[in-house]
Amino acid sequence: MLLFVLTCLLAVFPAISTKSPIFGPEEVNSVEGNSVSITCYYPPTSVNRHTRKYWCRQGARGGCITLISSEGYVSSKYAGRANLTNFPENGTFVVNIAQLSQDDSGRYKCGLGINSRGLSFDVSLEVSQGPGLLNDTKVYTVDLGRTVTINCPFKTENAQKRKSLYKQIGLYPVLVIDSSGYVNPNYTGRIRLDIQGTGQLLFSVVINQLRLSDAGQYLCQAGDDSNSNKKNADLQVLKPEPELVYEDLRGSVTFHCALGPEVANVAKFLCRQSSGENCDVVVNTLGKRAPAFEGRILLNPQDKDGSFSVVITGLRKEDAGRYLCGAHSDGQLQEGSPIQAWQLFVNEESTIPRSPTVVKGVAGGSVAVLCPYNRKESKSIKYWCLWEGAQNGRCPLLVDSEGWVKAQYEGRLSLLEEPGNGTFTVILNQLTSRDAGFYWCLTNGDTLWRTTVEIKIIEGEPNLKETSLGGKEEFVATTESTTETKEPKKAKRSSKEEAEMAYKDFLLQSSTVAAEAQDGPQEA
Ligand SMILES: *[C@@H]1O[C@H](CO)[C@@H](O)[C@H](O)[C@H]1NC(C)=O
Ligand SMILES: *[C@@H]1O[C@H](CO)[C@@H](O)[C@H](O)[C@H]1NC(C)=O
Ligand SMILES: *[C@@H]1O[C@H](CO)[C@@H](O)[C@H](O)[C@H]1NC(C)=O
Ligand SMILES: *[C@@H]1O[C@H](CO)[C@@H](O)[C@H](O)[C@H]1NC(C)=O
Ligand SMILES: *[C@@H]1O[C@H](CO)[C@@H](O)[C@H](O)[C@H]1NC(C)=O
Repeated sequence: MLLFVLTCLLAVFPAISTKSPIFGPEEVNSVEGNSVSITCYYPPTSVNRHTRKYWCRQGARGGCITLISSEGYVSSKYAGRANLTNFPENGTFVVNIAQLSQDDSGRYKCGLGINSRGLSFDVSLEVSQGPGLLNDTKVYTVDLGRTVTINCPFKTENAQKRKSLYKQIGLYPVLVIDSSGYVNPNYTGRIRLDIQGTGQLLFSVVINQLRLSDAGQYLCQAGDDSNSNKKNADLQVLKPEPELVYEDLRGSVTFHCALGPEVANVAKFLCRQSSGENCDVVVNTLGKRAPAFEGRILLNPQDKDGSFSVVITGLRKEDAGRYLCGAHSDGQLQEGSPIQAWQLFVNEESTIPRSPTVVKGVAGGSVAVLCPYNRKESKSIKYWCLWEGAQNGRCPLLVDSEGWVKAQYEGRLSLLEEPGNGTFTVILNQLTSRDAGFYWCLTNGDTLWRTTVEIKIIEGEPNLKETSLGGKEEFVATTESTTETKEPKKAKRSSKEEAEMAYKDFLLQSSTVAAEAQDGPQEA
């Protein structure tokens, strides 16, 4: 029993058991004769980019036998049907294997360096027998939450007779729906039987919001006697394969969720799978938000086609895991919701420097916030916005590096670039208790470098010099309250139009930050 629990824990939290920065798919499924393409991620340091990449098969005794490597080695088992390609530009390598057989099922590793070093990721490959297309069974393969139409032909003599669909459960067919109006309770509200107009010798059964439990063998039938027409259907309901997402600790991730126009007006959610099939809401369009994401999450307004995105900044180790987005009127995962899935990996060998996540200031004093940005993008426009939790979260801009400042902040807010050192500084003077809150540092370039900082207003003298409070990622950064905010180097934008244009650029180029046009600078 203990072993069972342990196995479950390992299955659910595989990231905890290893600190390896290599990431790939935990499970790959395919059928005989098909091919697979397996992508493995590594931190794109210059050493990693050039080092050997391999794919090996784990043996019973713990060893791992190389099947293919980036040095040109290909085992005889893979001769002519596999290749390994390195993409140093984005820190990935891809293993393609064709002509799969059931013998290829097993446990593998993809990794860097030599097999025994542990800089690797465990991948399990499962190759199953292809669906037998015997006895004129029609195979329907449909994604979870979607719709299937099962077509059932019949002969003229059965045109006036009862039409029905059965599901094979165990040894027996169980009636699902028939033309007399019966509907099995498992399908209530999501199934219908259509009989085509006269002359058409076909009826069809449409099942919506497919569930995993709908998968199986079906039989449609016209007529009940020995002259009845029968047709078999094999329904396969696919769970979406999670898309792999590899991000740096302290960085930012964006989940784009496009579930199709059919659910454009249904409530949307992003949830994180905890144990088993439970999925805890991270954020939804009904206004719910998990406390762990306070200040560092935004749900982008939906497009007309119902697609939306969720941005999370300040990634933490514990954010790693399986995320699902979906649509359901309850705003959370329910059976039959269409979903999309991601597996998020948080690379602890982050290129994003540590910066204070909490900055304390005293009323009447000032704070200086350091915002890291990707050094390669010194020319990007830098922004600072105020996170608002209302509704689905927004982040209206307060200041940018082009000299624009939101009207209410004129004279007490400035953004200073220090070219070349990979940080910009935002100084906010004449603090009041209303300035407490979460602020985001962003640029119109690399979207991974978005960071969140919380400003806390504490009791005290407004003339404190920069002091460390001892808290690991906290400090008090107060400058003299009389300090004038330095004039930015560039000419201050004067016209409202210019500021609006800059704001539109910002929305276009980082369309994932939720903000509605009316919250822009023009409301000033
Ligand atoms: C990495 O780069 C290659 C080649 O540019 C591209 O085909 C591949 O899709 C990229 N992979 C990821 C995960 O971005
Ligand atoms: C690698 O293998 C895949 C699948 O077998 C094939 O489509 C692809 O062309 C191969 N690439 C190279 C560079 O040989
Ligand atoms: C095909 O039909 C035959 C005879 O009706 C039956 O014995 C066999 O089990 C069927 N095979 C499958 C895969 O359904
Ligand atoms: C209906 O659901 C129950 C419980 O999940 C299941 O045992 C039964 O086999 C289902 N019946 C059909 C026709 O799907
Ligand atoms: C950049 O310069 C500022 C001000 O001189 C300094 O406080 C900060 O630590 C520097 N940042 C880095 C990453 O060197």
